[in-house]
Amino acid sequence: MTHRDEFTKPILPGKGATDYERYLRTDELLALQKSPAELSHQDEMTFMVVHQSSELLLKGAAFELGRALEHLERGDFANSARLMRRANQLLEPPIGLLHILETITPYDYHIIRAGLGHGSGLDSPGFLSLLHIGPRLGQAFHDQLKHAGITLDDLYRRHEEFFGLHDVAERLVDFDERMQLFRFHHLKLAERIIGGRVVGTMGTPVEVLQQRMEHWLYKDLWDIRNHITAASHQAEPSKK
Ligand code: HEM
Repeated sequence: MTHRDEFTKPILPGKGATDYERYLRTDELLALQKSPAELSHQDEMTFMVVHQSSELLLKGAAFELGRALEHLERGDFANSARLMRRANQLLEPPIGLLHILETITPYDYHIIRAGLGHGSGLDSPGFLSLLHIGPRLGQAFHDQLKHAGITLDDLYRRHEEFFGLHDVAERLVDFDERMQLFRFHHLKLAERIIGGRVVGTMGTPVEVLQQRMEHWLYKDLWDIRNHITAASHQAEPSKK
């Protein structure tokens, strides 16, 4: 065996010609899409790949938020914020991926849609995991505020003193904002492709997506800014 063979021969268990393929299980991953012959329309490959990639990324984000929650419950704010930052970064690509689907034209989409059955993003495991973890993070954050014996206003006013928990609060706002951005861009995608006054594959009117977009996970964290601005006006009435 040459020196080069030693490094190119796979040593991991599993299928695949190389350790790269074995570790990432690319054989299975890349068999999860319809074959070209099975596609209802050539654009269906992009439709599937975008959805599957989004599910993976949403799963990754929910996983990191789960870890962030454990750290938060233990009072380890630095690691909680670090993992939330990562989760928020993982949510950026699914937002961007939605724009790729805007390149599918309405007539072509209806050919793909005919094969979706009652399949709907309402059943997206990744998005549902995020909706599940969101309120739990909010509860853990409020438990920590209580534990520190301060109000939300105190936290924002004394942000240097409570830097760690303030950092967590801001990462929660980042997360909430990304959820809203996902919903906004997704709504625009649905409006562009199937229209804003129709029903989806699960019978949900697209208007419902509009209502869901206005859902805030951490309304109090957004509201606190109103209080801060109002208080600053009281202190200096000339300010806008
Ligand atoms: C051509 C592209 C798309 C169209 C026309 C579309 C359309 C819709 C419609 C009409 C709904 C309302 C529920 C129903 O189906 O009855 C919905 C929900 C949803 N879709 Fe899509 N969708 C598209 C792509 C995507 C992609 C790429 C994702 C990424 C995972 C996604 C995730 C979701 C989620 C999470 C919901 C629930 C929304 C919420 O809870 O606010 N959709 N979609």
